[in-house]
Amino acid sequence: MHAEADHLSVDHLEVRYGDLVGIADVSIQVHPGTIVALLGSNGAGKTTTLNAIAGLVPPSKGTVQWRGEDIAGLPAYSIVRKGVALSPEGWHLFTQQTVEKNLLLGTTPLADKKRIPELLERVYTFFPRLKERYRQRSGTLSGGERQMLAVGRALMSEPKILLLDEPSLGLAPAIVESLYETLTQLHQGGLTLLIAEQSVQLALEVADYAYVLQTGHTVLEGTAENLADDPQVRRIYLGLADTAESS
Ligand SMILES: Nc1ncnc2c1ncn2[C@@H]1O[C@H](COP(=O)(O)OP(=O)(O)O)[C@@H](O)[C@H]1O
Ligand SMILES: [Mg+2]
Repeated sequence: MHAEADHLSVDHLEVRYGDLVGIADVSIQVHPGTIVALLGSNGAGKTTTLNAIAGLVPPSKGTVQWRGEDIAGLPAYSIVRKGVALSPEGWHLFTQQTVEKNLLLGTTPLADKKRIPELLERVYTFFPRLKERYRQRSGTLSGGERQMLAVGRALMSEPKILLLDEPSLGLAPAIVESLYETLTQLHQGGLTLLIAEQSVQLALEVADYAYVLQTGHTVLEGTAENLADDPQVRRIYLGLADTAESS
């Protein structure tokens, strides 16, 4: 189902905000068909990394290879066209516009506009709540619904890989659980996922592989299983207290 070439490789990426360093040296591999978690505390560089891959901020050093092509520094719209979509932190919705209009905005880079009804129906199948509210202004949605809409809009460009920036942030546990169930279904349908999360435990439950960022550097990587089980990793990098009966 996956072209072996649908591979994302981020190598020694640096992004500067003027004199400030957003990320200093980030390297990540995402193999097709996997779920990769990008972990790290607030300010570690998760958003900067995803935004740089998606073309929202220009890298100052390093490469972003997608299907063997260096896409670093390309404009966002051309990166979306290549099959890389971002569900951004804070959603970036047009709050005065309806749910459906926001979804349609996700199809702007789509070459074949005839596919729009089918793609819309697909998003509504994954997120029935969005279908119920398709004529509502997105500004009236709950946080969970806005997150669904941000993911749905990203799906409208028919991505091969979906970058998710903190999908669980600020959402009630039941909403997060249902959102992650949907993400798992999307993954089973063939979508590759790169998920930035502060909810480490949750991310490690769904991910195959994970990277830990600290002050703009990838400092640690491993299978999700190994990272979740290593007490030192849990304590030092993931800020998880070890309790006798965690889970
Ligand atoms: N627009 C910006 N201008 C200046 N500094 C920024 C900007 N966005 C992020 N930073 C800085 O870049 C670093 C990484 O931030 P960010 O990528 O948002 O981390 P995370 O998503 O892991 O919380 C932080 O030191 C942050 O203060
Ligand atoms: Mg962030």
